[in-house]
Amino acid sequence: MIDITPETPDQHAAAIEALYDRTFGPGHFAKTAERLREGNASLPDITRVAVSEGELIGVCRVWPIFVGIDRVPAVFIGPVAVSPDFQGQRLGLTITGEALEAATKAGWGAAIIIGSVRYFSELGFTPVPVDRFVFPGPQDMSRVMVRDLAGDASALSGRLSAI
Ligand SMILES: CC(C)(COP(=O)(O)OP(=O)(O)OC[C@H]1O[C@@H](n2cnc3c(N)ncnc32)[C@H](O)[C@@H]1OP(=O)(O)O)[C@@H](O)C(=O)NCCC(=O)NCCS
Repeated sequence: MIDITPETPDQHAAAIEALYDRTFGPGHFAKTAERLREGNASLPDITRVAVSEGELIGVCRVWPIFVGIDRVPAVFIGPVAVSPDFQGQRLGLTITGEALEAATKAGWGAAIIIGSVRYFSELGFTPVPVDRFVFPGPQDMSRVMVRDLAGDASALSGRLSAI
């Protein structure tokens, strides 16, 4: 049986980092997206983890960010990772969907994600024009997507920064 729950940092944080290292490789901290995460504090109540027989096998982390000169708050989703033994069951989509639902219930207006458009479009994410956002480093803009939550993602544009 697989349980999907919010993150309890004391219980899950180390296993989440180990899963990221295993699925993405140690180079993942070099990505521009990490500049929005380092020095930022994720949202454990909105993050979702999947646990099977006590083992953490999936995660969708969620981060608060500001967008544009008006510093509009939004959530930055990811990374999403599923343990290789449990891939192919649509678990990544399920945990990300549950995190989006939690963020909507908590009143967050919109979500931003970087990833495969083919994969995340199933959850309602749509790619943005290449000049819509400014990231804190080089970014392949064709992989940047947004989605409405409790508000309107089309209201977001400009520079992304950690809260
Ligand atoms: C990406 C990841 C989270 C997907 O896990 P998952 O939800 O179990 O995905 P599944 O294997 O069930 O695939 C569901 C569908 O998405 C597709 N898919 C899986 N990974 C994909 C990717 N990176 N790009 C595009 N499509 C993908 C699958 O082919 C499948 O399509 P189908 O339903 O038509 O067969 C997992 O492969 C992983 O942890 N990868 C390493 C980390 C990573 O690259 N994360 C990227 C997101 S930030």
